[in-house]
Amino acid sequence: MIKTIEWKNGKIRMIDQSKLPLKEEFFECSDYECVVDAIKSMKIRGAPAIGVAAAMGIALGAKNSSASNVDGLLGELEVICKELSKARPTAVNLFWAIERMKKIICLSKWSRTDDLKRDLEDEAIKIAEEDVEASKKMGRIGASLLKNGDNVLTHCNAGSLATVAYGTALAPIYHSLKEGKKIHVYVDETRPKLQGARLTIWELNKENVPTTLITDNMAGYLMSQGKIDKVFVGADRIATNGDVVNKIGTYSLAVLAKEHNIPFYVVAPISTIDFNVLSGNEIPIEERDGGEVTHIGGVQITSNGVSVVNPAFDVTPNLLITAIVTEKGILYPSLKEKINNLRS
Ligand code: MRU
Repeated sequence: MIKTIEWKNGKIRMIDQSKLPLKEEFFECSDYECVVDAIKSMKIRGAPAIGVAAAMGIALGAKNSSASNVDGLLGELEVICKELSKARPTAVNLFWAIERMKKIICLSKWSRTDDLKRDLEDEAIKIAEEDVEASKKMGRIGASLLKNGDNVLTHCNAGSLATVAYGTALAPIYHSLKEGKKIHVYVDETRPKLQGARLTIWELNKENVPTTLITDNMAGYLMSQGKIDKVFVGADRIATNGDVVNKIGTYSLAVLAKEHNIPFYVVAPISTIDFNVLSGNEIPIEERDGGEVTHIGGVQITSNGVSVVNPAFDVTPNLLITAIVTEKGILYPSLKEKINNLRS
């Protein structure tokens, strides 16, 4: 299984997701500004993956600092954390990871800059390792919801590429495969950025999972024809009432699934739950450049000067969700109560 992001020889190595599937290129960041750019330009994307990138970006920024004393380094780290937190607004894993790193920064036991630098590097690597463990656990737990012969529909990319490895929504599919089950996956292309067509198909095919690509507007028809058994999606932020913010189009799928009596599962690590948010409507939705809608692969597909909206995510109300799979177990309604039990 490919490693989306790793700390290697004091640099961050990532696969360039903006080039997939046509080019499988890795790139290295040797300063935090490169990490900010990689998140903004979606060379790295997916909630858990950008959290790990932010943590490693902070470690890298600290490592490169020439501050002669701890106060100087702390001042630089404040700027670095601020820049990284502005990279994308919706996925809470980004802010969660920055907060984890800030906890190390705020220990106020530092007398030597080198000690703080070392501990930040260790913490970033730990966050990445924990992400892999969480994905494996979600895979094991989520696989119990899948049976041999299931046809699963997924949206966007919530696989290996959206995490350090294995993924969230795709992890149960990978695990089911290991258990010898045959699962077929319908993949929404996921306009406008085509994460489904470009990334999910690429990674599922690499793992020999049978796939069928569909455009986003085909899901309802396939459901009405009895072709979809279950829907599995990831999440960018989950409110404490169980509302889920995920890639634009997720809400429409949930409504369709409800209408057709098809289980709708969200798979996400606990780091995707925002314990400060009561409902999905409080979650900021990233609005991206209209050019992503007016153009496909650099080719203009509509009239000049057309008015466009381009929200990158939407809110799926908790009532439409059958269950949320986390690394700590499957949460069934009432989600609010179950989520509150997870508060640490
Ligand atoms: O804009 P993206 O590609 O970063 O959006 C990603 C998604 O919406 C994923 O479904 C989500 O991050 C869950 S991934 C484990």
